[in-house]
Amino acid sequence: MDKIVVWGGVPLRGEVTVSGSKNAALPLLFASLLTADECRLGRVPQLADIRTALRLLRDLGVQYDWLSDTEVALKADAVHHLEAPYDLVKTMRASFLVLGPLLARFGRARVSTPGGCAIGARPVNLHLDGLQQLGASVRVQQGYVEAEAKRLHGAHISLEFPSVGATENLMMAAALAEGTTVLNNAAREPEIADLALLLNDMGAQVSGAGSSTVIIEGVPTLHGTEHTVIPDRVEAGTFLIAGAMTSGDVFVRGSRGDHLQAFLAKLREAGVNVEETADGIRAHYSQRPTSVTLSTEPYPGFPTDLQAQMMALLTLSDGQSMLTETIFENRFLHAQELARLGADIRVHGNTAEVRGVAFLSGAPVMATDLRASVSLILAGLAAQGVTEVSRVYHLDRGYERLEEKLSQLGANIGRVKSEK
Ligand code: EPZ
Repeated sequence: MDKIVVWGGVPLRGEVTVSGSKNAALPLLFASLLTADECRLGRVPQLADIRTALRLLRDLGVQYDWLSDTEVALKADAVHHLEAPYDLVKTMRASFLVLGPLLARFGRARVSTPGGCAIGARPVNLHLDGLQQLGASVRVQQGYVEAEAKRLHGAHISLEFPSVGATENLMMAAALAEGTTVLNNAAREPEIADLALLLNDMGAQVSGAGSSTVIIEGVPTLHGTEHTVIPDRVEAGTFLIAGAMTSGDVFVRGSRGDHLQAFLAKLREAGVNVEETADGIRAHYSQRPTSVTLSTEPYPGFPTDLQAQMMALLTLSDGQSMLTETIFENRFLHAQELARLGADIRVHGNTAEVRGVAFLSGAPVMATDLRASVSLILAGLAAQGVTEVSRVYHLDRGYERLEEKLSQLGANIGRVKSEK
């Protein structure tokens, strides 16, 4: 129950290095279950969610060692348990991504269903339908998915929605299936292409990742490899907004513009100066942002994981912005908390009308989910006075050393550890 305290009004200036991507690292860690050989992953961020994933892998029987602060070696040659328990899956729903690899390599798995989440119902029907089409028998009992298959076989699967998780689970399952799998309407996020890169380095035959049609030629076995996780595009976007909304000048070293085109286009539309180089992205701005209208979409559209941060920026715009959230049905929880800092936001269903105000003023606010929590930190950085953000355990799930990195840019920020 730590709190983060921000003394606002300081323009952020300087350089910060982006960490490895949480949403790429999680499926990459679980892909180590597909082989008995050692897999080495570099640029793995130190996050609560990564620790949860490693705990789950250890409980399944996977050995792992941190070779450095950012490199981990994993070896799944003594897997003795094929169950992912409720207490871990409810802590981190991406744990559900062990289902595909366990089923593909060991022929059966028992994985808790993730249950609901603050930002939406988030069912897993597309994962289960796809695994059934690959020949698995699947039943849900007492909150657990029980799946079995002697050997999965290839299939033509058309996803109703380009779900990131379903695409990742099915890619890993199909990698060891007999025959060819075609995933139509697959997710196109950079994290999918990164997973395909790792699988192919392990000996798989995946083509088309990054497009909406992914083809997987199953192979009998996979081997170990080394892989470096892609940079975290959501963390990078967050720092660029921090620079823009504090009238600052920030360079995010290691970030990739090609992963952020829809976001950078909206940042530019809001008037922010953005420069993309081979080494990273720079954002600098000293005026009031211009209002914009945006709608979150599956990649390559505007990322839902940067919607809350963009809303924080637009609370200070010179007009009225309209934000539509099309991916999750309940992802405006930060709006009420931003209103406590003086923002003028009206939510109508999945659209938020943000009327720009001249300034924000610090206040105690509460985090509700990962991206909502960082939008409150961003607003606190721009606000006059002191902002206290409680329940920052949400933040620690997805941001590595956030206060340290922001202090590096000149922010006046600190963490108050809870007595407990
Ligand atoms: C991934 O979640 C990310 N998480 C999320 O980031 C991100 O917001 C999301 O993709 C969308 O980009 C990780 O990669 C660990 P989906 P995922 O399956 O895979 C519906 C963050 O902040 N759906 O693409 O769970 C679902 O309800 C997190 O870092 C079904 O209906 O997302 C949602 O409305 C939050 N049935 C939509 O699809 C299914 O079987 C998108 O979900 C699966 C999904």
